Amino acid sequence: MNSRLSIATRLTAIFAIVATGVLTVLGIAIYLSARHNLIAQDFAELENKVALISELVSAGTHEQRAQRLAEALGHHPNIEFHIIDDRGEQLFSTASEELRIHAQNQPADPNVRRRDWTLIGGPRLHVIHLRQRVADGSTVTILLGIDDARHAAFLRRFRHLLAIAIVTAALASSLLGGYAVRRTLRPLQTLSHEARQITAGRLQSRLSVDAAPAELEQLAQALNGMLARLQQDFTRLTEFSGDLAHELRTPITNMLTQVQVVLTHPRSNDAYRETLASCAEELQQLAEIVSDLLYLAQAEAPGALPTCELVPLDEVVDSLFDFYELLAEDRQLQLRRQGSAHVEGNRLMLHRAIANLLSNALRHATEGTDVVVGISESRGMCRIAVCNQGKPIVSDDISRLFDRFYREDGRSEGAGLGLAITRAIVQAHGGSITVDSSERGTTFELLIPACATAA
Ligand SMILES: Nc1ncnc2c1ncn2[C@@H]1O[C@H](COP(=O)(O)OP(=O)(O)O)[C@@H](O)[C@H]1O
Ligand SMILES: [Mg+2]
Repeated sequence: MNSRLSIATRLTAIFAIVATGVLTVLGIAIYLSARHNLIAQDFAELENKVALISELVSAGTHEQRAQRLAEALGHHPNIEFHIIDDRGEQLFSTASEELRIHAQNQPADPNVRRRDWTLIGGPRLHVIHLRQRVADGSTVTILLGIDDARHAAFLRRFRHLLAIAIVTAALASSLLGGYAVRRTLRPLQTLSHEARQITAGRLQSRLSVDAAPAELEQLAQALNGMLARLQQDFTRLTEFSGDLAHELRTPITNMLTQVQVVLTHPRSNDAYRETLASCAEELQQLAEIVSDLLYLAQAEAPGALPTCELVPLDEVVDSLFDFYELLAEDRQLQLRRQGSAHVEGNRLMLHRAIANLLSNALRHATEGTDVVVGISESRGMCRIAVCNQGKPIVSDDISRLFDRFYREDGRSEGAGLGLAITRAIVQAHGGSITVDSSERGTTFELLIPACATAA
């Protein structure tokens, strides 16, 4: 069957074939049963006659018996009789020549009472042929035949009637089946109609689940789930474009204003130098944002891990402690590492992820406290927790911390891309990042599979 045929057409075709097949078998069964019944009736009639004949020939002379038989059986045009007494003399006969000749070649057999004979010339007969002992002790040979074609006309009509009934019923059930199938599949059309209405601008609409039958309900729910995820991503993407424009606008406006102000009058070399230096600072900030965004795009791409190696996390953390030593001393912070573990991943990326957390921790830690990096491994998962004491994060939606450009306190030193990059790196390693913040301190925790299962 053509694989592009619609479900409705296929089901209708299957329905039609099955209905026609079943009805045909049923029709044949009914026909055969009717025919069988008719034949049984014929034989029953013959058996009646055998009983009657036995009684009529049970006494009297040859002539008397012949007389009685002729009177009783003379008006049975349907049945052929041939009755002979034990001396071989004919008592009564309406049998055709062909039947008599056939009977001579097929002597009466006490074991086979009923027979079906086909005579020379074609006619088929249901026959009873037997030798019967009667009351006076003599035997008679009784041959009774009834033409099979007697019911031919009736059976032909019956066949026609059945054929018409089968065709009509098959047609009706196919049409009804087709209608039922199309009606049943209507919710599918509704779903696809609804799906067609959904565009980027109407991602909030959902497919109606209640109207769908049980099987389609799951599909509709799955599609609605997909829509919800798409909508969320789409919203983030839209927000991101806005945020990006906003982020770039400030340094560009700053530069523009400065340059325009300087250009209004001729200035000293020092003034130009100062303006250029200030512009260079703004450009530096812009360059950082752009390179961070590029890095983020690469880290978020599927298959983001360029190379994979066994990374000793203690070494990574210790090298970062060396790097941040001066900064920590400056703010009288103690850097402490607890535990060690190895993780399969990209060393540079993991280095950057932890560096982002550490720089945040150092920036937000209360002076004179400890910044602790705890490393542990259990059940194939590596846990890296960066903990500092300081003002807790008061955010309505703490998961937004990981969004691009999100900064809790408006403009901070960074562009708000650090945690987004960290999360992208962790996810590229098949891991996850969580945050817990309270009066006791703020802890960012990375959970990364120890063996590479990069997502
Ligand atoms: N250890 C921390 N303690 C308190 N707030 C933090 C901490 N780490 C991150 N944050 C908050 O999360 C925001 C986003 O961090 P991040 O993505 O690294 O951006 P950035 O450091 O550029 O501001 C920060 O602006 C800050 O408000
Ligand atoms: Mg940061």
